[in-house]
Amino acid sequence: MDAGVSMKHFYEPYLQEILIDEPTLQARIAELGEQISEDYASVTPLTLICILRGGVVFMTDLMRRLNVPHEIDFLSVAAYGRGVRESSGEVRIDMDLRGQVSGRHLLLVEDIIDSGNTLQFVINFLKARQPASIRLVTLLDKPSRRTVPITVDYVGFQIEDKFVFGYGLDLDEKFRNLPFIGVVKPGVALSDG
Ligand code: IMP
Ligand code: MG
Repeated sequence: MDAGVSMKHFYEPYLQEILIDEPTLQARIAELGEQISEDYASVTPLTLICILRGGVVFMTDLMRRLNVPHEIDFLSVAAYGRGVRESSGEVRIDMDLRGQVSGRHLLLVEDIIDSGNTLQFVINFLKARQPASIRLVTLLDKPSRRTVPITVDYVGFQIEDKFVFGYGLDLDEKFRNLPFIGVVKPGVALSDG
């Protein structure tokens, strides 16, 4: 039984509606994988960089849809306080990449772009190490929330300004394992634990 079914009684109090269901997510990720594979057919060496922690579920599915050789790496970034549903505007690197950046083609893998603060910071941070190129794929984009201009090369879905969770995105650090994207019920207090 998957988490969408077995964890229903845990997440139901917070779920207003399912915004993007599992088959729709998976179909779009397959399309993105195809497109990215085409674009990188003769572009090497490629590294996918997962922006932790939200990007991890998306990246593990996306990379299995690629048919070009690539390495993976992880960058842990914090932009939101615990339980806070607005961007703090403050970004810090919690954990740096392990691999080399210089001369490599980087594809950043994000869960969602909101204000754009996180990505602006990450892109500047990585550019200083002189990669051959940097591109960006995000599963979700909330363009109406942007305060910093960001060029996004691949977008899974554009969504409205609603706080969402599941499929890598957390609600107070939980529910990243849900196979769908859900909208948080407004005004529901988060419990501990
Ligand atoms: P930005 O720096 O404002 O663009 O925020 C980007 C980060 O905020 C994302 O990587 C997410 O981790 C988090 N975030 C933004 N919107 C949501 C949401 O609706 N649900 C969960 N996390 C979100
Ligand atoms: Mg988050």
